[in-house]
Amino acid sequence: MSAKFSKAIRRFRIVQRLLTLFLGLVYVLVLSANRAFSQARSTNGASKSLSWKTVIASSDEPGEPLVVSGTVYKPGGKTPVEGITVYVYHTDAEGYYRKGSNSSSNPRLNGAMRTNAEGKYEYRTIKPAAYPGGGNPAHVHYVISGKGYSKQYDELQFEGDRWLGNPNLSASQRADTFLSVRPLTKDKDGVWRVVKDIRLK
Ligand SMILES: [Fe+2]
Repeated sequence: MSAKFSKAIRRFRIVQRLLTLFLGLVYVLVLSANRAFSQARSTNGASKSLSWKTVIASSDEPGEPLVVSGTVYKPGGKTPVEGITVYVYHTDAEGYYRKGSNSSSNPRLNGAMRTNAEGKYEYRTIKPAAYPGGGNPAHVHYVISGKGYSKQYDELQFEGDRWLGNPNLSASQRADTFLSVRPLTKDKDGVWRVVKDIRLK
């Protein structure tokens, strides 16, 4: 075998090894990107198995039981939309997103739903408290997303909250189910009930 030929073979093998290494690297990158993507989808509540209703707080969670329900409508506010993901999170009965932490980046009490054929969603939880030290009304954060709509944010607050600028709603405000501040009613089982509708943008 000529020296030239064996040099060419050596070069070929080096190129072959580099190529294998490169393809292996690409494979690992694609795999981890795929995993990160599906994790992001499930934390955003976009997994396909989502129900239109969920339970956020177990029965032993301290606090007053609360059921929030509503309908997601098209921008006109009249036509319900199926398949919209509604992700909600809120503080516990002491005003914490996580014990000892006031950061909302990793809330303990959270849930995701996907609206049903009537555009409805519902979650059972406990009534959140205002942040420790007060200043802000108690609230539930909403992240709403769906195919054909850009992600939007909303908030639910409760009539009568001492930290609201105007704790009491007028009759017309009470009737407007799209507003952030909503009235509470207590059902016969002592569960707070709230209706909060959403209008897509
Ligand atoms: Fe918050």
